[in-house]
Amino acid sequence: MRAIVAERYGGLDALALVDRPEPEPGPADVRIAVKAASLNPLDFKIREGKLKLVLDLKPPIALGCDVAGVVDAVGANAKRFRAGDEVYVRLEKNRMGGLADKVCADEAVVAAKPAKATFEEAAAIPLAALTSLQALREAAGLTKGQRVLIHAGAGGVGSLAIQLGKILGLHVATTTSTKNVGFCRELGADEVIDYTKHEPLPTELDAVFDTLGGDSELASIAACRRGGVVVGVGGMPDGAFAKARLPAFARPVVWLATRKRRNAARAAGVRFTYLFMRPDGAELAELASWIDAGTLKPIVHRTFPLADFRDAFAELERGRARGKIVLSM
Ligand SMILES: NC(=O)c1ccc[n+]([C@@H]2O[C@H](COP(=O)([O-])OP(=O)(O)OC[C@H]3O[C@@H](n4cnc5c(N)ncnc54)[C@H](OP(=O)(O)O)[C@@H]3O)[C@@H](O)[C@H]2O)c1
Repeated sequence: MRAIVAERYGGLDALALVDRPEPEPGPADVRIAVKAASLNPLDFKIREGKLKLVLDLKPPIALGCDVAGVVDAVGANAKRFRAGDEVYVRLEKNRMGGLADKVCADEAVVAAKPAKATFEEAAAIPLAALTSLQALREAAGLTKGQRVLIHAGAGGVGSLAIQLGKILGLHVATTTSTKNVGFCRELGADEVIDYTKHEPLPTELDAVFDTLGGDSELASIAACRRGGVVVGVGGMPDGAFAKARLPAFARPVVWLATRKRRNAARAAGVRFTYLFMRPDGAELAELASWIDAGTLKPIVHRTFPLADFRDAFAELERGRARGKIVLSM
């Protein structure tokens, strides 16, 4: 079967389309004949070697963690799905390889594909929507009526986070560039801040979902009320993540590199928490129900045939996508 791999750590030229044997499902697995798969910044960060310390993967690395397709085999103990079922999934962290004709996943992280979505649309959902839901509902603990700022509202994560914020009954502000202001309003944002015009961020927020990292996190902390929370996914991890997921030698490095952020949060009385999203079949089923009800819309920036994988990665890496980039098998 065909698969996209990072043959070594590096740039676009480290990517290759290779021939690999079909994977055999383990006892709790389903095997999926992939119809479409979406790209995430995680894919090029892995290729660049930036996640060496977090994920136990060595080149050649089979890339891709978001998939929609049809079950074509099930393991002996797998009970939830049968051959022929249409499904979608955010693959488990050390079992990626979704940019391929076939992939296996534990059935616990798989859900039935939303009936109203095409395979391309369904593939655009898992990682970005699970991240958004887990950030807003779980990590920030937001409830109806609260005010949140979602950074990069036009991006793969942001375009779903705005919609999920509205589903959860939140007042949503977002940041974007001039060309995407109308798009973010259409997604449901109550306030849109054009960062290219240096418009000020709202203040006294209950939470900020920060997908940008770096200095943005300091501004996010300043935009929260005392007792508010910043959930970061795009920058440096926090101490709790470093303790749980990083080798001992890396922890003091993280501690030093995040000192400014920690001090700012302490002074402002704001909690900063880093989220590393988790695959979750039950939450994917919940997301599918919103898609089928018409309240959550998958946003596909552009679909490429698998053979054009390098162009698809280049488009992602430009960082200007409106929604998600999808590869079609
Ligand atoms: N920790 C986790 O579990 C986790 C999970 C998911 C994602 N992430 C991370 O979250 C980040 C975002 O992911 P993504 O998939 O949303 O990326 P993406 O789709 O590539 O983001 C592109 C979007 O970013 C916007 N943007 C760029 N600079 C901006 C700025 N200064 N202010 C506001 N918007 C800006 C662009 O809008 P304009 O063209 O309008 O500028 C574009 O729409 C990545 O670093 C990714 O690795 C982490």
